[in-house]
Amino acid sequence: MSSISIARVFAAVAALVSTASAACTRESLLASAQAYVDAQKTGNTNALKLSPTFKYQQNNKERALSAGLITTPFKLDLVRSTADTVACASYTMWISSSGSKPYVVGTQIRHDGNDTSTITLIDTIAATTGDLFFNASKTLGYIRKEDWTPINNTGSMPSRELLKKVGDGYLDMWTDPKAADSIPWGTECERVEGSQYTNPCGKSLPHGGSSKPNGMRRTDLVCRYVIDEVQGSVDILCQFDSLGTMPDSHEIRVVDGKVKYVHTITALKVG
Ligand SMILES: *[C@@H]1O[C@H](CO)[C@@H](O)[C@H](O)[C@H]1NC(C)=O
Ligand SMILES: *[C@@H]1O[C@H](CO)[C@@H](O)[C@H](O)[C@H]1NC(C)=O
Ligand SMILES: *[C@@H]1O[C@H](CO)[C@@H](O)[C@H](O)[C@H]1NC(C)=O
Repeated sequence: MSSISIARVFAAVAALVSTASAACTRESLLASAQAYVDAQKTGNTNALKLSPTFKYQQNNKERALSAGLITTPFKLDLVRSTADTVACASYTMWISSSGSKPYVVGTQIRHDGNDTSTITLIDTIAATTGDLFFNASKTLGYIRKEDWTPINNTGSMPSRELLKKVGDGYLDMWTDPKAADSIPWGTECERVEGSQYTNPCGKSLPHGGSSKPNGMRRTDLVCRYVIDEVQGSVDILCQFDSLGTMPDSHEIRVVDGKVKYVHTITALKVG
């Protein structure tokens, strides 16, 4: 082989390697979410691979990772993650109910440039004693009973567009009187808001009334949606401005084209 053709082979291999590292797959997103969960269990973040522009945000306020909830070890009673291969982001819900400081947490993790080898943002909504409808063991009881098996056949997966529309419709109900009726409610549908349970979930909904839209769904950082067609779910982090400046996570699961579960995690204070 001439030296020129060897150079060509090297160039081709290098191109392949860079394509591979740019692939944002479900597996790599869930592996990264698992690394976050492992860190949370031990309180040790050394194994997390952070990008040079990494930011940590907790209850809608930036802070040092070393000052984050992640550096306190928790015994986790429940962990569930979803993955968005288009936005290259994941969402993890975890519950710790047994310790002196119980928590229900929703965390989005983002990776820039479709590259899951480093983490760009950890964005956490953390609710604890005193927060809206908070009772971790009660929430755990409801969430544990849910069926989160993946949507079985590709044909019945909800589209990204439908999931985004349902998520936005939900958060718009407080300001838009027509939003509640635009959502396809399932008959066997459960709403778990903090630890408050409502079934069917299309019952007793707001039809406008607030003049303040729920904000911070987009920040200067990134868009705060994690849409997973395989699980049929959307999670949106926001500030629940229609009721107050409350850091909030809303997660919705759609099965057979209809809303099946709604979860909310809401903290009372920013920061
Ligand atoms: C990441 O990949 C998705 C498709 O898998 C594409 O839609 C998106 O534009 C890519 N983003 C970047 C920043 O390359
Ligand atoms: C949480 O709910 C459970 C079950 O309803 C109840 O037994 C418990 O006292 C509640 N905990 C607090 C701190 O209110
Ligand atoms: C998928 O199939 C299994 C086994 O038939 C069933 O128990 C489960 O409810 C199904 N899940 C969904 C989301 O349709």
